[in-house]
Amino acid sequence: MADPQATPQRALRDAMGSFATGVTIVTTRSAAGEDIGRTANSFSSVSLDPPMILWSLARSSSSHAAFAEARHFAVHVLAADQDELSGRFAGKSADRFAGLETERGAEGIPLLRHCAARFECRTVYRYDGGDHVIFVGEVTGFQRSDAAPLLFHGGRYGRLVRQRATPAAPERPETLGAGNLAWLLSRSFHELRAASAEARAKLDLTDPHYAVLTLLGHRDGLPLAHVLPLASQRGAEVGRCDCAALAERGLVRMDPQPDAPDPALHLTEAGRDTLIRVVAAIRAAEADLLGRLAEEDARVLLDLLGALARSDSRGWPPALPA
Ligand SMILES: Cc1cc2nc3c(=O)[nH]c(=O)nc-3n(C[C@H](O)[C@H](O)[C@H](O)COP(=O)(O)O)c2cc1C
Repeated sequence: MADPQATPQRALRDAMGSFATGVTIVTTRSAAGEDIGRTANSFSSVSLDPPMILWSLARSSSSHAAFAEARHFAVHVLAADQDELSGRFAGKSADRFAGLETERGAEGIPLLRHCAARFECRTVYRYDGGDHVIFVGEVTGFQRSDAAPLLFHGGRYGRLVRQRATPAAPERPETLGAGNLAWLLSRSFHELRAASAEARAKLDLTDPHYAVLTLLGHRDGLPLAHVLPLASQRGAEVGRCDCAALAERGLVRMDPQPDAPDPALHLTEAGRDTLIRVVAAIRAAEADLLGRLAEEDARVLLDLLGALARSDSRGWPPALPA
């Protein structure tokens, strides 16, 4: 909960920060003809008829005079991938617009591109808002795209994850279902495995053969004594005869080691080529599967699974035996 050491103002700011918002950049043109822009999350819609919005600016901002005098401004609702742009317009850069493609609105105000939405406004009211000034604008033009929005919460940027009805875990203790991670992972992995199995069958690769090739894809040059237990951890028992068969097919090379009884195993060019073909089939199936999700959701899924994968040191490829 609240940090007992925090000053009252800091505590208030933290409490306000628990209100999640989008992020905007508000732009205008100063009387001297300079392009002005600041990042603001105080944006809010006010009225539909007439169409009006508001935002507030700190009186201490070096842009205060320009916005106070401006008859027009534009609010740009940022897309999820525009966090750097937000940082740039919140920072102290001398020319925040450097390198940006802009269009021009009323009285030459700069308009940014590629945002989730954009509102061109005429300043209609200015209200005292304590250490901020509240600007109310009448919307004179707007546009929107389907881009996912950038979010801000607790001082950090975020992305949108839509609510989905979570299926209940099955009541019966002997079954798993759509409410369980294990069930969901194995169901979705099943689709990828089917593509991999098909590609392996075409290339005449058994499970043990494929296990050896993927292991060497990660750790080329492992001694045979390490290859056998590690490759067997994928599920299929891998024996010396599997490695010999791969060597016979020219997919693996067994090099004698000067100080060890066992040879070291290397992928040959043909072995690497075979592996690349299986991996390409899996990647295509993966793209197909993730293509069923919105781009943002796919990215979030990979992020979250990545966090789980990193937290488990027992994952594949496994650590070498001591
Ligand atoms: C996500 C975010 C939201 C912000 N929202 C506001 C805002 O609504 N009003 C405001 O005055 N400053 C806001 N700021 C701060 C300004 O963008 C800017 O950093 C500040 O005005 C810097 O002072 P300067 O204008 O003197 O350069 C925000 C900053 C960030 C990163």
